[in-house]
Amino acid sequence: MTTATRASLSTHEFRAVSDLMYQVSGVNLTAGKEGLVQSRLATRLRALQLNSVSAYLEHVERDRSRAELTMLIDLLTTNKTSFFREIEHFEYLRREVLPQLNRRGGAARFWSAGCSSGEEPYSLAMLLTEELRPPTLAASRILATDLSTRVLARAELAEYDATTVEAAGRARLQRHFAPVAGAATRRFRVRDAVRGMVRVAQLNLIGPWPMKGPFDVIMCRNVMIYFDAVTQERLINRFWELLAPGGSLLVGHSESLSSLSHNFSYVQPATYVK
Ligand SMILES: C[S@@+](CC[C@H](N)C(=O)[O-])C[C@H]1O[C@@H](n2cnc3c(N)ncnc32)[C@H](O)[C@@H]1O
Repeated sequence: MTTATRASLSTHEFRAVSDLMYQVSGVNLTAGKEGLVQSRLATRLRALQLNSVSAYLEHVERDRSRAELTMLIDLLTTNKTSFFREIEHFEYLRREVLPQLNRRGGAARFWSAGCSSGEEPYSLAMLLTEELRPPTLAASRILATDLSTRVLARAELAEYDATTVEAAGRARLQRHFAPVAGAATRRFRVRDAVRGMVRVAQLNLIGPWPMKGPFDVIMCRNVMIYFDAVTQERLINRFWELLAPGGSLLVGHSESLSSLSHNFSYVQPATYVK
């Protein structure tokens, strides 16, 4: 086999990759994901001139800097996201949660857990600037975390192409984004008033969490879908600990907590309160 073709993936190799991913990220690469693993690793194997996944795994293990493990995580996590994705959650926040926070006054804290390239926390920050009264807004912060360093770099940059920002709608595009001067293609940067509300940080959801609560809202959407039930249950109970009483947990609309043991009250699809 030449290194230019796609390395085959034996059952043993697939198991080794999925065991490693499970151990380091909680991502559960179940049977049927072999094609995905093979295609996502192919380019990396070619770049390193390695001709088997086993050789690549040895390379990951030998790399004491753990940079290659980071690369592997970047390659095997799914980072699909968009501005104002699952709009029902933003409507729920505007209708139910933000008016309460305005009445309460003081600082409000939000966490976008599994924020990918930043579209989710910046959508939230845009909504906050639109809906919160100045004193509450000035004291409010969003923590945006993810495991993948590749997407976090994009979140930190807060620059998006024209197609991506379209999802925010014309009015928000004008209000919350500035065109990037000198870019080869049309690009837009989130304005500082919104950008400044978001702190981007790396955090592994299955590892230790350095921050303390309480949060008023935790968004963990389209992340738990990649975890098994044990990891999901542990995670939502850790979210419970960090939420303020009455705080909201928003999960992806294809994710349900119904088969997990927890104390949250159901509000509407994919929306729970403590
Ligand atoms: C599909 S994206 C979801 C992005 C956004 N929440 C949304 O709904 O549009 C899933 C994200 O979860 C992140 N992720 C996967 N495992 C993680 C872990 N153990 N800790 C933190 N983030 C993780 C991935 O890197 C990816 O960016």
